Amino acid sequence: MADNTAKIEAAKNAFGKLLTEQLERVERIKANKEFTDYAKLDVIKIGVLGGDGIGPAITAQAHRILEFLLADKVSSGKIQFNVIDGLTIENRVLANAPIPPAVLLEIKKCDVLLKGPTTTPRKGDPYPNIESANVAIRKELDLFANVRPVRIPEKGIDWTFYRENTEGAYAVGNSGVNVDEDLAIDFVVTTTEGTERIARAAFEFAKKTGKTRVSAVTKANVVKTTDGKFLGICSKIAEEYPEIAFDDWYIDIMTAKLVDEKRRKDFQVLILPNLYGDILTDEAAEFQGGVGTAGSANIGKKYAMFEAIHGSAPRMVSEGRDIYADPCSVIRAAAMLLEHIGYTTEAQKLYKALDICTITEKKLTITGRDTGATSARFADYIMDTIKSL
Ligand code: IPM
Ligand code: MG
Repeated sequence: MADNTAKIEAAKNAFGKLLTEQLERVERIKANKEFTDYAKLDVIKIGVLGGDGIGPAITAQAHRILEFLLADKVSSGKIQFNVIDGLTIENRVLANAPIPPAVLLEIKKCDVLLKGPTTTPRKGDPYPNIESANVAIRKELDLFANVRPVRIPEKGIDWTFYRENTEGAYAVGNSGVNVDEDLAIDFVVTTTEGTERIARAAFEFAKKTGKTRVSAVTKANVVKTTDGKFLGICSKIAEEYPEIAFDDWYIDIMTAKLVDEKRRKDFQVLILPNLYGDILTDEAAEFQGGVGTAGSANIGKKYAMFEAIHGSAPRMVSEGRDIYADPCSVIRAAAMLLEHIGYTTEAQKLYKALDICTITEKKLTITGRDTGATSARFADYIMDTIKSL
């Protein structure tokens, strides 16, 4: 028998460190109870992070639209924009950190963020294996609710996904343990506090918007401890909302049901652990016209960040096509930002203009190349449409 004592001790030490960090995180969640009340802030600071790849090009267009919609609030001093450069893969490699410290400092001075896509290093890339900037920001700012709406009115689809955003397979996704060359272990994290807050956020949204059904999606029949806990807590929170129907689904059959035209219309609000939420929201966005059409809100108690759900498409940049990239995902994220900070009239105008420009009127098309409109031209089209509303 091989003597495994040394490697087991090393793995136990690594696991012990993770446990300490996670237990401390639970204490931080418990201490952090209040949501920011934007109406009470003298100045709302909006940070604009272009990210990298096509990010800066498309985010600049969403920023232009926000400046246009909020012009009077900017002149009165109620709104301040801070453009934060440097959340690029090159800078992250230089700093050997998922968020360069100088960028993080600027981020924390803001109340809400609009963020373009960022490159996530993966195996085989020329970069060190740095954690995804998205994931790092979500964890650093404790943005626990990833809210992703998908609406296709002509098909009767109106789904809102509440994806848990700080735990599950992502919590320590960069801290798995290679026990030896034959054995690798990753960890999945579910906490009571972390699950209660996402479940409550989903039910509160349902209540506020008159939805009648909330569905939890897990794999609690197999992943019994963490998914089991997630489902148990969702069921418990559901009891606080007797007027809302609650049911639960396994992720495999839910993935199938979203394709089932007879059944899928019935889903309204879905609560999911992080990884299932990641996967299912891409599938859902595809029905709406692709991930390029979907925006995503990352909501925490103190901060909130709004972003596109797609990647940074570095190939479009190397082929000189970034000026033709579709800005609609970040523009939709900008509309969600407006809604979140209480500018609902401006948000509604932007949603309406997006519907006109991308569904009903469609005077311009974006093809990602010079056969279609540039992102700037498309943003002009959206602003002209808003003016004519
Ligand atoms: C998303 C993205 C990220 C995620 C990636 C880029 C790490 O796919 O926002 O859904 O997995 O959360
Ligand atoms: Mg994803």
